[in-house]
Amino acid sequence: MKVAERASLQALNSFSAPATAGLLATIEREEDLLDLPTLDPGRDLVLGDGSNVLLVGDVPGTVFLNRIMGRSVVADDGRNAMLEVGAGENWHALVQWTLNQRLCGLENLSLIPGSVGAAPIQNIGAYGVELSSVLDSVTAWDWQTRAWLCFSAEECELAYRDSLFRSGAPDRYLITSIRLRLSHEFQPRLDYAGLREELAARCLARPTAQDVSDAVIRLRRRKLPDPAEIGNAGSFFKNPIVEADLAARLLADHPGLPNWSAQDDTVKLSAAWMIERCGLKGHREGDAAVSERHALVLVNHGTATGAQILLVAHTVQAAVSAEFGILLEPEPRIVDFKG
Ligand code: FAD
Ligand code: EPU
Repeated sequence: MKVAERASLQALNSFSAPATAGLLATIEREEDLLDLPTLDPGRDLVLGDGSNVLLVGDVPGTVFLNRIMGRSVVADDGRNAMLEVGAGENWHALVQWTLNQRLCGLENLSLIPGSVGAAPIQNIGAYGVELSSVLDSVTAWDWQTRAWLCFSAEECELAYRDSLFRSGAPDRYLITSIRLRLSHEFQPRLDYAGLREELAARCLARPTAQDVSDAVIRLRRRKLPDPAEIGNAGSFFKNPIVEADLAARLLADHPGLPNWSAQDDTVKLSAAWMIERCGLKGHREGDAAVSERHALVLVNHGTATGAQILLVAHTVQAAVSAEFGILLEPEPRIVDFKG
């Protein structure tokens, strides 16, 4: 385990927001956890690759940086395989590795930034697939009892951009590894808008899993700003899920509002469309802004602080609330130990 004092976090978050940690502890082996004090939720923070956090200020205590590596196929009957993956592995590198092993199931989740250990936190999802469709179980260190626990996928309470680890018991567990069930048989999931067209444009009538992955990568590169070029955390707000009668009222006033039916007679609405409709696409307050490319993404044009990005988020929330009567909920974790 490496430990550094007064460490900068600017290169460790995809917004490139300036912040420091009192201590930065890089966890490379599960056993490192045995030597660590218990996490204090009022002072400390677990970080993977920092692609879904907004650091509004410094972290006064310790940032526990998860770098536990390792990938192995623990069972394979020729049709299905079980993988065990260390939480510090890079998610997209894992997706590409599984495709090279001719294992299917992760292709729609290509190019999502971040670490494997963070994937269950918000049940990552894209292009019509969520982690929940392949997750078998999660192993996590319980900071309170100082022991490892294994959670079945059901016990993780995965939902749209949510889980036990995010809402039910935040900061109680540090995920150290996950198990995934993948298949040697490819079942294409092409219903998300634009995916079929992207494949058809390349005359791929019978695409392979690698073709789907490549198409998702092309779509994502076209739509989303790259954090290596401009700081961002992907979608800054969740798409709101509302009761069917409220959705019907909003759609009567705004027939163009993209919507998808969700569970239990609810409807998911496009937050990007609402923000664009409020005239805020590209809206800028100094170096903090709404992306010109995608209205759901907040960006750092260079020198914005987390606090300045949060002010833009408040501008967006106020405008959408005034126009649509809906309070947008941030997707990244807002890290503000003073606020
Ligand atoms: P971090 O930002 O480091 O942490 C996120 C949260 O998880 C924090 O609360 C942290 O404390 C906690 N955490 C991290 N690791 C652990 C651990 N091992 N144990 C316990 N808690 C932990 N997300 C999607 O779902 N779909 C997308 O399509 C998508 N596209 C994106 C595109 C861009 C350009 C960007 C920048 C982000 C996108 N995201 C997307 C969000 C992000 O990629 C995911 O949320 C990702 O899983 C975050 O991983 P991370 O390692 O960077 O997590
Ligand atoms: N749209 C606009 N204006 C824009 C951008 C999009 O009106 O500037 C409209 C589009 O026309 C489209 C709709 O919004 O009809 C949806 O857009 P998109 O397909 O880009 O998806 P999204 O709802 O904005 C969600 C996820 C993404 C995920 C994509 C693809 C959330 C909060 N975001 O975005 O996840 O990659 O779908 O599945 O659910 C993330 O979580 O960080 C993330 C990037």
